[in-house]
Amino acid sequence: MKNVNVVVIGFGNVGRAFVKLVSLKRKTISEKYGVNISIVAVADSRGVAIKKEGFDEYEMLKMSELPRSGIYMFSPYARQGASIKEIYEEVEPDIHIELTPANYVSGEPGYTNILFALRKGVHVVTANKAPLVLHYNEIMNEARARGLVVKFRATVMGGTPFLEMLGSMKSHEVEKVEGILNATTNYILSEMHENLIDFDQALKKAQAIGVAEADPSLDIEGFDAAAKLCIVSNVVGKPIDLKSVYRESLSKITLKDVLDAIRQGQVLKYVATLDLQNKSAFVKIVRIPKENILAQVNGTLNAVRVKTEATELFFVGKGGGRIETAHSVLDDVLFISLEKVVKK
Ligand code: HSE
Repeated sequence: MKNVNVVVIGFGNVGRAFVKLVSLKRKTISEKYGVNISIVAVADSRGVAIKKEGFDEYEMLKMSELPRSGIYMFSPYARQGASIKEIYEEVEPDIHIELTPANYVSGEPGYTNILFALRKGVHVVTANKAPLVLHYNEIMNEARARGLVVKFRATVMGGTPFLEMLGSMKSHEVEKVEGILNATTNYILSEMHENLIDFDQALKKAQAIGVAEADPSLDIEGFDAAAKLCIVSNVVGKPIDLKSVYRESLSKITLKDVLDAIRQGQVLKYVATLDLQNKSAFVKIVRIPKENILAQVNGTLNAVRVKTEATELFFVGKGGGRIETAHSVLDDVLFISLEKVVKK
């Protein structure tokens, strides 16, 4: 049995779902793959819980029920405040899981945490997009130089291994990637079309199901979709800058706009486009005929069309809900555990 120690940094919706998922799946995973996943530390912005030999299933389940920013309450293992350096002084992880919220100005705290982990010789799995969007090359070079990997399939189409597929299409020249990449705004628009509620009501529902960013303006101002385009652009080797992505805000959409579209047999969608031939990228509100395949993609589903010189592919799958994103994070952890040599 290979034991894999993981630290979880960030304990919001995805963090709690991940810890719960490990508690439910750990036994099956060890039987199926011979890998024992040991969560040895879990931290949020207020505190940290540490157990060097790894939390057991019951403890993980209890931990996953804590409120947001509540890890400091997890007695007797928790305490308030602890820097990443202090955590690494106490435990020796094989994999660092970065689930802190995205900050597209500084990339922090994820940027510092990820570099810290890599410099300690630890593989990284991140669902936080911002460090990759702002510092992709630096992070990847740092990892490569140390024979480490940074996996991030949860960052785009959270619950769907789209980036894994895209990254494997190495012989292709990707010309265009276009689709619905933000679950929150797609959910808002679907609610407005189906239940004829206004924007604010729909946003509240999106927040209640745990799919919106900690700061929902990142979703509705298009930052999240734009950030995903940046990550896609790096994966296909043609990086673009976040600032160069044109963003139209969804917040200006009214119920009247939706009703106007419906009357004309159309639906409104918030579409992100990376046009690599014309070197442009944008996130816009688009009117689409209701028969169009993108018009059928509703709720928290994401969809993306990839056009290369040789083919055109269409992916549909779950976006960033907490449970499906937790699965993607766990899949990355298992990829590293099975494909990469972990220290023990
Ligand atoms: N807030 C994001 C979304 C979460 O709604 O798509 C997943 O990236």
